[in-house]
Amino acid sequence: MEKINVLFNEEVILKRISEIANLLYEKYGDEEVTFVCTLKGAVFFACDLLKKYKGDARIEFLRVSSYEGESSTGKINLKLPLKAENINGKNVVVIEDIVDTGYTLDYINKYISDMNPKSLISCTLLDKKARRVVDIDPTYSGFVVDDLFVIGYGLDYDQKYRNLPYIGVVVKE
Ligand code: IMP
Repeated sequence: MEKINVLFNEEVILKRISEIANLLYEKYGDEEVTFVCTLKGAVFFACDLLKKYKGDARIEFLRVSSYEGESSTGKINLKLPLKAENINGKNVVVIEDIVDTGYTLDYINKYISDMNPKSLISCTLLDKKARRVVDIDPTYSGFVVDDLFVIGYGLDYDQKYRNLPYIGVVVKE
């Protein structure tokens, strides 16, 4: 196995996720919230976030893809759609693993807005701000990361490393 430099260990990640869960609960209180988890990368984040969220939560899944290897193609493909009846009139929180160029979050926001939610915000575990192409910011973000290709905790490199319990960078020999 390649050498991996750890950027955020599990303890640090879980602490930050708890903080985000509390911020969301402060915002919504006892109003129902529909969390939209984007597959596959945000699954680990979504599970830990929802376990810490104290309010009335529903969960839906959406799958889009734009990445091949280490680069975003900019062209978004919808692989698993949402049902409009699960979004219409709901408070929706999109859960993303990482916002990089912003193409994906921008696409998702427009896609969900067209289904007329009551409200729509987003939270991402990681924000690669320096690489943004589209002028978009997630409402909440766990950590800002430099322009590095990160893996683990749901994030993959060609489908590998998702199951690492930490976020890191592969050290190339
Ligand atoms: P964007 O459309 O460029 O913002 O890319 C968003 C998607 O690209 C994320 O949901 C990830 O699936 C993937 N992605 C972007 N940067 C990384 C990375 O550093 N590691 C793994 N996946 C990444």
